[in-house]
Amino acid sequence: MENTASLMKMKKQGNKIAMLTAYDYPSASIAQAAGVDVLLVGDSLGMVVLGYDSTVKVTVDDMIHHGKAARRGAQDTFLVVDMPFGSFHGSFDRTLGHAVRIFQETGAQAVKLEGAGDVIEVTRKLTQTGIPVVAHLGLLPQSASVLGGYKVQGKTANAAKQLIEDAKACEAAGACMLVLECIPHQLAAQVTKELSIPVIGIGAGSETDGQVLVYHDTVKYGSHHVPKFVRSYAEAGDAMKQGLEQYVQEVKAGAFPAEQHRFTMKEEELEQLYG
Ligand code: KIV
Ligand code: NA
Repeated sequence: MENTASLMKMKKQGNKIAMLTAYDYPSASIAQAAGVDVLLVGDSLGMVVLGYDSTVKVTVDDMIHHGKAARRGAQDTFLVVDMPFGSFHGSFDRTLGHAVRIFQETGAQAVKLEGAGDVIEVTRKLTQTGIPVVAHLGLLPQSASVLGGYKVQGKTANAAKQLIEDAKACEAAGACMLVLECIPHQLAAQVTKELSIPVIGIGAGSETDGQVLVYHDTVKYGSHHVPKFVRSYAEAGDAMKQGLEQYVQEVKAGAFPAEQHRFTMKEEELEQLYG
């Protein structure tokens, strides 16, 4: 299993980091078997597996429930669990309570927090507590209501300057890794150059130290909107639907179950039963 030091080494040696979300036992175990370096139990689970229209409704208990399932599916993969909306603002005691629960109960290697500002100090304190923190800048889905939707961030020189400052502050506060979401590729390249911690992009071009995608987007499973920056590598949803349609047909036609799917009572037992 990778650790914060080996991930740093991957950056130094120019070995790209392949990160993917996972939300349950089968997705995590398939991702691990496929050689994914880092798994993220993202709060995107609110949309892709719980059917909410944003990540705002996701709770700490949701994250723990799914985090534990993903952990059971991938015991040998570096696992990051998102701290959900509203769980890491307000008093530090409250934040710490949430972070400790997520970290202890899921057995994750790190927690991920969106944003800079007050979050920088939280990152410092959690790291001092012994909980590795992954930072997340650029498009912050938990703040979509404030940002006015899911838009590319850091497009102006001023916004880019601020993002670079924020990224440096995250690293200085002890963040072990940084996710950059939906920013121009030139800016992502610059941040990647200026930081010594691994920088993982999503919708941030190819010059970061690694990539992260949402599991269900990557294999096209589910009916949600797939953003422009995604490449889908499988047609899992279509394959599943075809299989399930055939199942329904065979049940209705009496073609399933067949002989090999059934259990048989011995003749002598049948005789005793019916006399
Ligand atoms: O929740 C999530 O899936 C994420 C990734 C998009 C980085 O935070
Ligand atoms: Na997230």
